Amino acid sequence: MENFTAYNPTKLIFGKECINKLHKESGKLGKRALIIIGKGSVKKNGILDAVTAQLTQANIEYTLYEGIKSNPIYQDADKAVAQAKEFGVDMIVAVGGGSVIDTAKAVAMGYYVEHSVWDFFSQKLRPKKALPLFAVLTLAATGSEMNPITVLQNDETGVKIGIGSPLVYPTASFLDPEYTYSVPKTYTSYGVADLIAHTLEVYFEPSDSPLSNHVAGDIIKLAMEYGEKVMENPNDYDARANIMWLATTALNGSLAAGKRGGDWGVHNFEHTLSVLFDVPHGAGLSIVYPAWLKSFKGDVKEKLDFLAKKVVGEDKTGEDFIAALESFFEKISTPTRLSQMDISGEDKMTSILENLEQNKVSGNFFKMDKERYENMLQLMA
Ligand code: NZQ
Ligand code: ZN
Repeated sequence: MENFTAYNPTKLIFGKECINKLHKESGKLGKRALIIIGKGSVKKNGILDAVTAQLTQANIEYTLYEGIKSNPIYQDADKAVAQAKEFGVDMIVAVGGGSVIDTAKAVAMGYYVEHSVWDFFSQKLRPKKALPLFAVLTLAATGSEMNPITVLQNDETGVKIGIGSPLVYPTASFLDPEYTYSVPKTYTSYGVADLIAHTLEVYFEPSDSPLSNHVAGDIIKLAMEYGEKVMENPNDYDARANIMWLATTALNGSLAAGKRGGDWGVHNFEHTLSVLFDVPHGAGLSIVYPAWLKSFKGDVKEKLDFLAKKVVGEDKTGEDFIAALESFFEKISTPTRLSQMDISGEDKMTSILENLEQNKVSGNFFKMDKERYENMLQLMA
C-alpha cells in the first residue's frame, strides 16, 4: 500500500429536500452570491426556484449566470468572473451537473485574479485563493460535488484539461436524488458510464491497495445493478439515490487511498472526442473503455481476473469482465462504438489521431503512442 493523506473538507448533505439546509449553510458565509446554471433544465424543473428561495431566506442577494454548456468552455468562466466582480460576491452557488460545478470552481479561483482562468488550466499560474462554493447537484456522474477537480475546454487550442486545487472543494454540496428524476435517459446512462470509468481509472493504477480493489469491484457491481433499475424506472428513488452516492464515492478521493492516484489514460483519450465532436463525456468513456481494456488486457491480466470474479462470477476471467462491461453499456444504451455518435470516415479518424498526437495523450502508467492510438481506434470503430 502506498502512503497517503486523507483529506476532504466538503460537507455532503444528502437526501430528500436537503435543499432546505442551504439557507443555513450559505447564510454563514456572506450576503451576496453568484448563481451559475446550465442551459435551463433547472428553470423548468423548479430546482432554481428552490435555491433562490433558500438564498432569500438567508437574506442573500444574488445574480444569475446562465448558459454553461455541457463540455464547458473557459470563456464562460471568464464571463462569469466578470459578472461576479461587478456584483461583488461572497460565494458561488452552482446548480447543475459536472459542467456547471466545474465552471463554478474556475470562477471561484478567477474571482481573485486579473487574468483568464485558462492560465490556471494551462499551468501557467497557480491559484492562491478562491471563493466559497456551494453545489446543488442535479445529475449523478462526475463526483465534482465532493472533489477538488475542475475540467474545462479550450476550443481554440483543441484541448480539454482537468486540474485539481484544494481551494475548490465545495464548502457544502446538496444531493437530493429526486432532483435527478428529470435527467434524460441519455445523460442518466452517460453518468453511470462515467462513475464506472472513474472506478476503473483508479483501480488499474498498478499499486496494490486491497480495500480499494474490493470497493472498486463493489462500486462497479452496484452501478450495474442500480444502473439497470434507473434506466427502467427513472423515478425509482432508491435507484437514483444509490447511483448518486456511488458516483460521489467513485471520485471523492476515498478509492485512491493507498494508491498513486489513477491512470486516467481513457479520460485523456476521451477529452479528444469531447473537443473535436462535443461528445458527452460519459458517452465518450463508454466507447473508449472497452477498447482500452481490449488493447491493454495483457498488461492488466491479474487485475482484470480479480474484477471478473468480483463483478461477473467466481468462475469468470478478465475476458468475461470486458464482455460483461460492454454488454452492460449496450443494455443501458450508452454507445460503445464511434459510429454510434456519427464519428466515422478517414477524415475524422485522421483528426482524432492528430489531436491525440498534438496533446501527447497518454495514461499516467499505461503509456500510449501512435500505434496504440491506431489500435484503439480500430477497436472502437
Ligand atoms: O444545461 P442544462 O439545461 O442544465 O442540462 C444538462 C445538460 O444538458 C442536463 N441536466 C443536468 N441535470 C439535469 C439535466 N436535465 C434535466 N434534469 C436535470 N436534473 O444534463 C446535461 C449534461 O450536464 P453536464 O453537467 O454536462 O453533465 P455531467 O455531470 O456529466 O458533467 C460532465 C462534465 O464534467 C467533467 C466532464 O469532462 C464534462 O465536462 N468531469 C468532471 C470531473 C470532476 N470535476 O471531477 C471528473 C469527470 O471525469 C469529468 O471529466
Ligand atoms: Zn469522468
